[in-house]
Parts: sequence; C-alpha cells; structure tokens
Amino acid sequence: MPPIVVSEYKHANETLRLTDLRQALYDEGAILMEKVLVNLHGEEHRARRGIEIKVFRRDFFEWYEKQVFPTTLRETLAPYLVAGKTDLVDFGFRVMMNLTADFSGVDRPRRTPEETATLLRILRTFGKAATLGQALGDKAAIRAEIQQAMDEFDADFFRPSMARRQALLDQLARGEITEDALPRDVLVELLRAQAETPISHDVLMKEIGFFLLAGAFTSIHTLTHAMHDIFSWSASHPEDAPRYAQDPVFLQKAIHESMRLHPSSPTAGRRPTCPMHLPSGQDVTPEDLISVDLMAANRDTSIFGSDAADYNPHRPAPRGASAYGLSFGIGMHSCLGLTLAAGSVPRSGADAREHHLGTVSLIARALMQHGARPDPANPGVVDRSTIRNNWSTYPILLGQA
Ligand code: HEM
Repeated sequence: MPPIVVSEYKHANETLRLTDLRQALYDEGAILMEKVLVNLHGEEHRARRGIEIKVFRRDFFEWYEKQVFPTTLRETLAPYLVAGKTDLVDFGFRVMMNLTADFSGVDRPRRTPEETATLLRILRTFGKAATLGQALGDKAAIRAEIQQAMDEFDADFFRPSMARRQALLDQLARGEITEDALPRDVLVELLRAQAETPISHDVLMKEIGFFLLAGAFTSIHTLTHAMHDIFSWSASHPEDAPRYAQDPVFLQKAIHESMRLHPSSPTAGRRPTCPMHLPSGQDVTPEDLISVDLMAANRDTSIFGSDAADYNPHRPAPRGASAYGLSFGIGMHSCLGLTLAAGSVPRSGADAREHHLGTVSLIARALMQHGARPDPANPGVVDRSTIRNNWSTYPILLGQA
C-alpha cells in the first residue's frame, strides 16, 4: 500500500505533534535502531528522553560552543590550512566525530590517527542503518556490514567506555569523588538511571552508537549543503560574499536557509497506533504508513514566500514557522541537538559574542575566514546510493586564491 503523503507545512507541523502516531522511518534499520530513542514510543520514549535531555541543558551549549568547540575546530583545521585544501565531507566527519563522541560517552584512549580512522569507519557504517529504508543496493549485505561494525564498536569502544564510567559512578557512590569528576555525557546519565530505568547492554550500546550518528551525520551533510549554497550564491551575488566571513549572524541566517532546503531526512515516517483522523482530513488506521514530506513542507509558498524553492539568505523570517522549517522535526521526537547544531534563532540586532551560533555556523565561519572555495579541478560528487542526495565528496581550496 503506498504511504499517505502529508506535504503542506501546516498539516506536516500538526501531524508530527500527534502523540498517537509512532515512529516508522527506521523500521528497516532495526538492526541498530530498533530500541533507540528515536524509535521508542509513549512512556518508554518519555522516560529515556527525560534521562538524556539532562546532558543538553542551556549551560551545556554555552560551555560547549564557547569553550570546547573552538579548540577542536582549530586543531582539526590546522593541517588542512598547511595543505591549502581539504574535502568538506571528510573534514566535517573529523570535526564532528570527536565532539559527538565526547557528549555521547565514547572514549578514545589512544588518541591516535588510527583510532580516529577506526571510529570514523564504524560510524560511516552505522550511517547505513539510518538510511537502509532509502537504500538502493543489496540490503542483506548492508545489514551484515552493520552487524560487524557493531561488534567492533562494542568490543573496542563501548565496553571500555562503559566500564570506566561505571567505576567512576561507584566511586561517587562511595563518596571518593565528587560530581565534577564525572564526564558530562549521555552514557553517564543512562548508567546513573539504570536502577530506576534498566536498559540491557545491547540496547545501551546501540543507543550510544545512535547518538554518534544523530549528532555527526546530520551536521556533516548539512554543512556540505550549506557551503555549496554559500559558494553558489556568492558567485551570483559577489556583494554578499565577504559577509559570510565577516558577519556571523548573516552567516547563521544563511545556514538556517540552507537547512530549510536540505532537511537531513527528506521525509519523516509515522504509523498510527489506533484508527484516527489526520489534520489533512484523511482517516487512517494502524495499517497505514504516513510519510511527512519535510522537503515539500519546507518549500510551502504560503509560509516561506513565492520563491520558497530557492536559496535566499535575505529571506524575511517566516510567520508561524522557524527559518529552518521542520528540518529538526517537531513534537515528541523533536531534535535534542537543535541548539547545538543550529544555535538559537537570532533576534534583530543580536550580538554574535553573546548569541549561540551553533556548530554548523562555527565550522562554516572558520572555513570562510580561511578563504574556502570549491576546487575547480575536482568538483563535488553527490551520493546516489540513497534518495537523500547528500554529497559524498566536496573538495575545497583554503588560503589565498
Ligand atoms: C543539522 C543537524 C541536525 C539535524 C538536521 C537533525 C534533525 C533531526 C530530526 C529531523 C529529528 C526528528 C526525527 C523524527 O521526527 O523522526 C531529530 C531527532 C533527534 N536528533 Fe537531531 N538533527 C541534527 C543534529 C543533532 C545533534 C547534533 C544531535 C546530538 C545531540 C541530535 C540528536 C537527536 C536525537 C537524540 C533525536 C531523537 C529525539 C527523540 O526521538 O526524542 N541531532 N534530529
């Protein structure tokens, strides 16, 4: 049976808020995703989200964006500045992976390039679970590859990370250390809550793998789309080109515009838990699959204007919608990392020093300040193995032209 498609912004927005619809986008990726947060429903979802959200408080974003992120970004960028070039996708993976590993709770004790490369390889394979429903290749072979990556992740990264955190929590319980000695991450919170909300080893491991994915993959692909939009707009509007490097609030608005046009997942999938009536008027039952077309909703001309399908960094703030549309979801599964990735929506006259820009804008800003531009000899390549149209490579040059 073909899915029921919801594509008007208003209906999409209301549909995603309905609590009688459960997640259905990741059913094919069950091997990794079955019991992870984004797939849970009802009380089980509320309890897990309530534990994990403790990591993502406002002071966390403040500390992370102002204290942690600039150093990681500088260190990761340094060798590429010397080389005068990088690949946006690979660079994005390197910056985001270490950061998402930190807030997920995955230690990298050896801190060697080989260790980073191993985790990157595992993460890229996990990424195939989230897009398995949209994959065009041999799905059984992809599942076998994901299982192998999970076994490796469990043995080499997850078990040691969990053992270290459990030992710290035991020390805390005996009064030998204070709260400040604990890492601030999702795994610590889940282990701390084990007595009240027990989760099996297998599910804990997958939950942390999912967090790595949710934090890194989305931001990386968003960054590449945003940089491509910046390069294209600068070519046709040279008067705006310097503003991307010089005006952080303009840059952030431009990133939000790109996020609207390129939602990480072009659709959200839901299934009714009971017979019900959708805001778009249809009556549906648990047999129906509902596809909320985020890409179409984010281009709804009644909300974003007659040129809604085009990129325009000067677009006026839409009424009754966020500048990035529904790209971070809404309702019970709304993105926990929204402020981390996108910052907060700037008010007019916002001071960039006080304001949260978000990691995607911070990376784009650093690249633009170092003269980032497409490498004319090596054009970027779009990944055609899923329907998401993400870039698989995007070579850029850095430094003086
Ligand atoms: C540009 C970056 C990002 C985009 C576009 C994005 C997008 C989304 C979307 C659309 C959803 C909702 C899925 C649905 O309704 O089915 C979601 C959920 C989620 N996101 Fe993000 N995300 C981004 C970054 C992050 C980051 C940095 C984190 C790390 C904390 C994160 C963690 C999550 C989690 C945990 C959920 C599931 C929430 C739940 O089910 O309760 N995301 N994200």
